[in-house]
Amino acid sequence: MNFIFLGAPGAGKGTMAEVLSKKKNIPAISTGNIIRSALKSGTEMGLRAKVYTESGKLVPDEIVIGIIQERLARPDCKNGFILDGFPRTIPQAEALDKMGVVIDRVIDLEVSEQMIMTRLSGRRVCEKCGASYHLVNKKPKVEGRCDLCGGTLIQRKDDQPETIKARLKIYHEQTEPLKGYYEKQGKLCKVQGYNRVSDTTKAVFEAIEA
Ligand code: AP5
Repeated sequence: MNFIFLGAPGAGKGTMAEVLSKKKNIPAISTGNIIRSALKSGTEMGLRAKVYTESGKLVPDEIVIGIIQERLARPDCKNGFILDGFPRTIPQAEALDKMGVVIDRVIDLEVSEQMIMTRLSGRRVCEKCGASYHLVNKKPKVEGRCDLCGGTLIQRKDDQPETIKARLKIYHEQTEPLKGYYEKQGKLCKVQGYNRVSDTTKAVFEAIEA
């Protein structure tokens, strides 16, 4: 099956996409992670995307659509995949439909803006492997160090309070309309994302198996 995780920045899309990926043994594809890794390697695409991501703006549709087209053509997507952070605009969703990609379920994670600020301002990520932690909810075993690879934990540039506000504004203007788009297609499942990770996981599984 093919899934999309929809929701505001910090709704928990990345967290839930990883959980579902392990349970279903299908890849979780995060356009944000692909862009950050291109930025780190200094590729041409990374350099073009830098100014947008760091200020909390969306990277132009043609760039992300190209990324997804290339990624979905890989053999590991044959038995299904999970999209985390794509589509984020109506033209991106239309491009997916035009590619002939069939989406089975779109899971919309609902959280309050206050919770988003708390989650994102406390998030720390490993500079080396990208693993995600939280100062309160998901502390590493050793402060400032990644449990998985020992890398240094840093704050994402776009997790600064002012940039979070800019990301939320763009979310409401450009991404939220996707709820209606997928509701019309009968694919939207709404899940409360403000509980503990274990409770949200349970709710996601109930929604996709309903
Ligand atoms: P991206 O990386 O996709 O950022 P985002 O959508 O803003 O999502 P986040 O990673 O901030 O949040 P999340 O919902 O995944 O939450 P998470 O699970 O980490 O994109 C970054 C940038 O790339 C964009 O701004 C844009 O510039 C560009 N981009 C990417 N895709 C694009 C596209 N399609 N088009 C154009 N541009 C694009 O959780 C957050 C925190 O909360 C973590 O610390 C976690 O531990 C904690 N947490 C999560 N769930 C729970 C829970 N249930 N209980 C307690 N804590 C929780």
